[in-house]
Amino acid sequence: MAARLVVGGASEGVDAVAYLVERDGLQAVRERVPEAAAVVDAGDFEARLEQAVLLYRGGSPARVLLVGAGEGGEWFGEAERLRVATATAVKEAKRLKRVTSLGIVVPEKLLEAAAREGRGEEWALEQALVAADMANYVYSLKSRDKPHALGEIRVSPVPGGVEPGRVAEAAEAIAEGVRVARDIANAPPSRMNPEKVEETARSLAERLGLRIRVFHRGELESLGMGGILAVGRGSSVEPRLIVLESDGGGPTYAVVGKTVTFDSGGLDLKPPQYMLEMKYDKGGGAAAIGAVVAAARLRLPVKLVALIPAVENMPSGSSYKPLDVLEMYNGLRVEVGNTDAEGRLIMADALAYAAEKYKPKALIDLATLTGAAVIALGNHAAALMGNNEELLARVEKAAWRAGEPAWRLPMWPVYGKQLESKVADVNNVGGRPAGAITAAKFLEHFVGETAWAHLDIAGVAWVQEKGPWKPYYSQGGATGWGVRTLIELLREETQTRREG
Ligand code: BES
Ligand code: MN
Ligand code: ZN
Repeated sequence: MAARLVVGGASEGVDAVAYLVERDGLQAVRERVPEAAAVVDAGDFEARLEQAVLLYRGGSPARVLLVGAGEGGEWFGEAERLRVATATAVKEAKRLKRVTSLGIVVPEKLLEAAAREGRGEEWALEQALVAADMANYVYSLKSRDKPHALGEIRVSPVPGGVEPGRVAEAAEAIAEGVRVARDIANAPPSRMNPEKVEETARSLAERLGLRIRVFHRGELESLGMGGILAVGRGSSVEPRLIVLESDGGGPTYAVVGKTVTFDSGGLDLKPPQYMLEMKYDKGGGAAAIGAVVAAARLRLPVKLVALIPAVENMPSGSSYKPLDVLEMYNGLRVEVGNTDAEGRLIMADALAYAAEKYKPKALIDLATLTGAAVIALGNHAAALMGNNEELLARVEKAAWRAGEPAWRLPMWPVYGKQLESKVADVNNVGGRPAGAITAAKFLEHFVGETAWAHLDIAGVAWVQEKGPWKPYYSQGGATGWGVRTLIELLREETQTRREG
């Protein structure tokens, strides 16, 4: 369950209070919390990021956490420093089974630095709360001994002009979007197959009053969605294209999310250790759904359309095969070089349909598309590519601001040559070199003239060996990567629109 998120009153009436401390704030905290003096003087608390010390005192609340907030100049910026510190506080507090409410006191200087870098103090407080909720997230299917989580999280101070209720409401909206995404991506593959993704989307649509439309096999056939149909053919659960929409008025934005509920590789079967992570191959679609949830709850003045091609990529007697030639929604014919390059095939149909049917102001896609993106950037940034410089600049900025770094890769025409096919218009694979780029070049064939940005989130959609390491991902598993970027982008776009 999500915790109640509150702005204000962090130091009273809670089971524990956490003081975030910057490097140059050690003296100040010594004065504010006399009990902290001993540990500071002993040199055991230096306010480093991710450092936390638990103290007890006679007063109330009895539990006091000192949490390091580091110092300015980290590569990920000031707002992220605030998120990391807030998340560390939650991560430490939730280890205490008797603690259900936590207050987090933020130094004014840190709040101001985060506010300046982003969009003001309300935004900074909201971001702190979202990070806190992410750190409080637990995913468990245990039948007993459920892990403990906090029931209420507060942040202070409340600077003049800040409206606490509005901030908390926005934070809860975004936090729920992230939770929805993580829940879907974390779900075991047979509990979240294409049919269950549809059910999940339908129940969200009902609860939030969203429009939903689902195309099943018959409709996919009449529409000519050869990619989705082919990839889904090996599974006993039929593929579908789910279209979920939050309509707050205003311009249309479309987001396509790769939703391979399990990627075995198909006939080009993956080796076991690679297959072991492939329930997360629905992370892109999960984030798209989460973003619609958040957009609806925020009442963003845009029409946000999420297109979710949901399939299970399985080997069987009915599977699509290497060397098959598929006809896609936009008429392009694709030779299958490898059945494990399935993501781009389902994305292709959904992208082409989104571009043609909605003519969106921007078309954004999120996909755990290539192992090559992981090789290129590791687990610390999504790979960003596309066909429109202005949109890419906006997406890149939104991603960094949201705490989800994105890094651009080139899209020079020469990379497209790697996809040439002798018998069809294009092959679905382009060899090992530049694998993340050739996958994006493949997708580019399907977006037409629409302004399009592609985020390959293969390295960041779940916590892998080397990251992402942020304490708000301390649960492990799915990160919900993309929800916060999309929300940040849409809010930025609507704000500029209002001003302009
Ligand atoms: N879902 C995988 C990509 C992936 C791999 C994501 C590892 C995260 C971690 C995708 O469907 C895939 O299998 N891609 C292949 C493409 C290749 C056959 C051209 C890959 O990256 O190896
Ligand atoms: Mn694959
Ligand atoms: Zn895949």
